[in-house]
Amino acid sequence: MNLFQRLLITIFIFSTISCTSAKTDGYVEVSKEMKIKSSYLLIPVEEKAPEVIMYVKYEGSNEQGKYYIRLAREKADYWVKLDVSKQRDKNLTLTFDNTDKSVWGFNNLKESDIFNVEYDETYRPVFHFSPEYGWMNDPNGLVYLDGEYHLFYQYNPYGTKWGNMHWGHAVSTDLTSWTYLPVAIAPDTLGDIFSGSAVVDINNTAGFGKNAIVAVYTASGKKQQQCIAYSTDRGRTFTKYSGNPVIPNPGIADFRDPKVSWNEVAKQWIMALATKQTVTFYGSADLKNWTRLSEFGQGIGSHAGVWECPDLFPLNIDGKTKWVLLVSINPGGPNGGSATQYFIGDFDGKTFLPDNLPYPLWVDYGRDNYAGVTWSNIPQADGRRIFLGWMSNWDYANDVPSKIFRSSNTIARNLFLKNNGKHLVLASYPVKEMELLRDKTNNFSDIQTKNKAIIEELVKNNAGSYEVTFEIEPMKSENFGFSLRNSNNEMLSYHFDLHAGIVRLDRQKSGLTDFNDKFSVGMGAPLTTKNIYKIRLLVDKASAELFVNEGDITMTSLFFPTETMNGLEFFTENTSIKITTDRQKIDLAKREAI
Ligand code: FRU
Repeated sequence: MNLFQRLLITIFIFSTISCTSAKTDGYVEVSKEMKIKSSYLLIPVEEKAPEVIMYVKYEGSNEQGKYYIRLAREKADYWVKLDVSKQRDKNLTLTFDNTDKSVWGFNNLKESDIFNVEYDETYRPVFHFSPEYGWMNDPNGLVYLDGEYHLFYQYNPYGTKWGNMHWGHAVSTDLTSWTYLPVAIAPDTLGDIFSGSAVVDINNTAGFGKNAIVAVYTASGKKQQQCIAYSTDRGRTFTKYSGNPVIPNPGIADFRDPKVSWNEVAKQWIMALATKQTVTFYGSADLKNWTRLSEFGQGIGSHAGVWECPDLFPLNIDGKTKWVLLVSINPGGPNGGSATQYFIGDFDGKTFLPDNLPYPLWVDYGRDNYAGVTWSNIPQADGRRIFLGWMSNWDYANDVPSKIFRSSNTIARNLFLKNNGKHLVLASYPVKEMELLRDKTNNFSDIQTKNKAIIEELVKNNAGSYEVTFEIEPMKSENFGFSLRNSNNEMLSYHFDLHAGIVRLDRQKSGLTDFNDKFSVGMGAPLTTKNIYKIRLLVDKASAELFVNEGDITMTSLFFPTETMNGLEFFTENTSIKITTDRQKIDLAKREAI
């Protein structure tokens, strides 16, 4: 395109018809009509600007999109994109509520075929998935098909705080590096697109096509109802089912997050649905017509908050099949805010019967692993139950100090049952694919200390993304631990108190904490006394995932250091501890960014 043509188009697009209608609060409603010639309309966002409503209407459509956005009043903190690539040559009417024609953002909308974000910001993780820009919460629709792991997620493409829920989309072939794809499902007249799951309909039970991916989600408008949408092009585009909702709201306000799986015993689809503070199971032969089967949860587990994002799946142990039910709860986590509890029991295709265990039991004792669910359709030959959680906490998720994106996920983990010496527990451990990221290895020598041993720099010139593994032998010490540290005296500390049978995680001095009062609250996890503690710690700029003894305990925690956390300190109280050398290593993540 030559300069003249470009100018012509620009003038054509922005010699828009602007309309103004007066409002009582001084501001008005302003509109622009434009002919779409590019893939994206770029909209400037300013965090301190008030939220206004943006109405989006395309020529020839009766529907009008309604989104909340902080349209920049003075300058752009970052840009968001309205993907108009499928609407080329149509007229678009964009209306902003509570705005007037002089507002900077209204006059600085840009059209473009490219959208570049400043990806490299300080707290952007390297080996964790984070959205390209904008807000993310729960992982949704985790499904494997033809060599691709699909990750859909709760996504706000128009800002870095919760709102305007869409299903964002990314795929991976190895669970460690991800490719962003366009938004998969956008809000409609039934409401925003809340959490849910996806299945591969191998036998075409729904009639959308053999091997169609069927997404089952909650439409959250005036009420929450379950809906489906299908894709016959490997998840690249979704069509909403015309008979939605497939489960209308029966009068329960919190009625959401359907997780569907095929049940071989019942020979039908089973849906686990969060219903206030219980899980209700539904059955269906075709994903469209659902029958209520049973309800689980009264009087068992934690009820300190609303139940969300259930997941029901079988796991084998000692030649037997047990069923695990994950239930996220907010608030009411063991360390405050949101967390995921689980139940172990039997499921006969209709009813979940829990084993008698000391509930509540928790998937992760860190504050930053929520709404985690597992992939469906993993090939039998693989056989793993792969889990992904949202690495944040509703207590402060909207305030964490990243800039153009908010939140990342945990790394993918394999879930399995093990006996902790007293009873069955659900353990989790990084999927083996994580080892593919290992690049350089540093070893450090044996340490035996009676008080403190410091490694000032774990890895030269490291930007804060690495993995550390070592073994601690407490010998006679009952109080010992280790801290990640930096030269600004910031620390993320893990304190093992064998007497109390607890490992505590302290992030009070870990860097920026004052963005929310609840961020500094300490964390604790139950600990059994062992002769050796095998530690694996995955650190990625602003997060640390701790695995003790191959998944007995996990603690996932965010932290926001003002300088790279690239040092390690061991400590004990007056009695020696040994840090054994043979397994000590530090592995760097190979890739620059995901
Ligand atoms: C859990 C949750 C879900 C809901 C979604 C909305 O974090 O509250 O229950 O579907 O987030 O974004």
